[in-house]
Amino acid sequence: MICIFLFFCFITVTTLEDPCFTTKLIDDWRRSVANGDSSQICDNVLEEGWYRVVSGSGELMPTVCPYGGFRCGTTTPFWLSSSEVTGSLYPDNSSTVNRTTCGANYYGDCCEKTIDIRIKDCGCYYVYYLKPTTGCYSAYCFGNQLPCPDGLTSSTGFTPGCTNSSCARIENTQEN
Ligand SMILES: *[C@@H]1O[C@H](CO)[C@@H](O)[C@H](O)[C@H]1NC(C)=O
Ligand SMILES: *[C@@H]1O[C@H](CO)[C@@H](O)[C@H](O)[C@H]1NC(C)=O
Ligand SMILES: *[C@@H]1O[C@H](CO)[C@@H](O)[C@H](O)[C@H]1NC(C)=O
Repeated sequence: MICIFLFFCFITVTTLEDPCFTTKLIDDWRRSVANGDSSQICDNVLEEGWYRVVSGSGELMPTVCPYGGFRCGTTTPFWLSSSEVTGSLYPDNSSTVNRTTCGANYYGDCCEKTIDIRIKDCGCYYVYYLKPTTGCYSAYCFGNQLPCPDGLTSSTGFTPGCTNSSCARIENTQEN
């Protein structure tokens, strides 16, 4: 009986402590590096903590400088820098890594400011430990896709592969 009780206690504690089970979600396609609108998001009000990104535009923080800024819904987008990292920027095997993000500004400096973050591998997704940025507009970039243009659709509702759905169905039928 005590065994069973302790077992559930253990499960509860590990569930609460494992950042993979965070309830903080980021669901905002405007953070996509493909979004050129620069006055939408300020992460100076972001609450520090572990986040899972579930945006349809993608869950990965870009690893290439959004040169010149004015992307990801903000003026100074933060991206995942590979300086001082050997091997993969993203962790595997449920491990956690410390990484540096860089803010890219409008005059071409790809690392005007840095913010340290952590990334944990959760098997089929990652979680990110994020701190608020300083200043507005500055924000973390996530994903590289955009919603399908009006009138077009895809399985996710996002690029790539947006088609005129009714036409695509007919083409598929004819191919088979
Ligand atoms: C992760 O696990 C795989 C399979 O066990 C192993 O080949 C790989 O080296 C591990 N990676 C790291 C970074 O430990
Ligand atoms: C990673 O960052 C955390 C939190 O800042 C720190 O406690 C830990 O020592 C760091 N790990 C490494 C390997 O630098
Ligand atoms: C979508 O289908 C309509 C009706 O067949 C057609 O007029 C339109 O040009 C198509 N749009 C695209 C982007 O293919």
